[in-house]
Amino acid sequence: MYSAIAMGRALLDIQGVRKSFGGVLALRNVNLVIEDGGIVGLIGPNGAGKTTLINVVSGFIKPDGGRIIFDGRDITGQPPHKVARAGASRTFQIPKILRNLTVEENIKSAHLMAEEVENLERGRRLLKIFGLERLLEHPAKSLSGGQQKLLEFVRAVVHGGRLIMLDEPVGGVHPDMIGLMGEVIRDLNREYNITFLIVEHNIPFVSEICGKIFVMGEGSVIAAGAVEEVLETEAVIEAYLGGGDASG
Ligand SMILES: Nc1ncnc2c1ncn2[C@@H]1O[C@H](COP(=O)(O)OP(=O)(O)O)[C@@H](O)[C@H]1O
Ligand SMILES: [Mg+2]
Repeated sequence: MYSAIAMGRALLDIQGVRKSFGGVLALRNVNLVIEDGGIVGLIGPNGAGKTTLINVVSGFIKPDGGRIIFDGRDITGQPPHKVARAGASRTFQIPKILRNLTVEENIKSAHLMAEEVENLERGRRLLKIFGLERLLEHPAKSLSGGQQKLLEFVRAVVHGGRLIMLDEPVGGVHPDMIGLMGEVIRDLNREYNITFLIVEHNIPFVSEICGKIFVMGEGSVIAAGAVEEVLETEAVIEAYLGGGDASG
């Protein structure tokens, strides 16, 4: 059984969080601690509860039980704008960019909610790195799916905060840009001490940048540790292969 033990200072401490949707127990009992300054991965088969966990932490869904402590404050059940103001940003599995606004307006609107003025400059640098600078005047909806994901990532960075949670940030993103995003995440982590929680199916990407991963299966954390070790544990192999079929 996995238990939540953190060595450093906890930035996010998720304690016994539960959530069900009608008869579906999406989060059974989630315990997870993310240390300040970490880059942490969260993997697990479809339906494991990864997105629901981000929704609960970021305030988009209220949990049925448990506690969420962020930066020493109890944020359980707080609405999204309060969680964001406390310093936790996120992206969505399906990007929630402002489709009818231009790329530049998307960045500026994220900046309106930012605490720090420099974030806009940081955002412009990232747009350049991701090759979106030439599309500044284009409406966001004209971008490819992968470019929309990159734009949303940049918006989260411009919005700022101590913790950024990314829900499948590289799905559909061009392979060259995936490498760049990995470098950008590492730079932001190193230079500004931004902590990242990254939900992602792309294991090479996760393995490249995450010091530690958590694995979810059927609404709980079933393993945690270094990527290579965790992927070899029986519970994890079963979670990916099992799919509830005990005979196979
Ligand atoms: N808003 C919702 N209403 C009803 N069921 C939901 C909702 N969100 C998630 N679920 C269900 O909760 C479970 C976990 O889903 P999700 O958190 O999206 O998993 P993951 O992101 O790991 O693929 C799934 O069975 C899913 O169908
Ligand atoms: Mg998901």
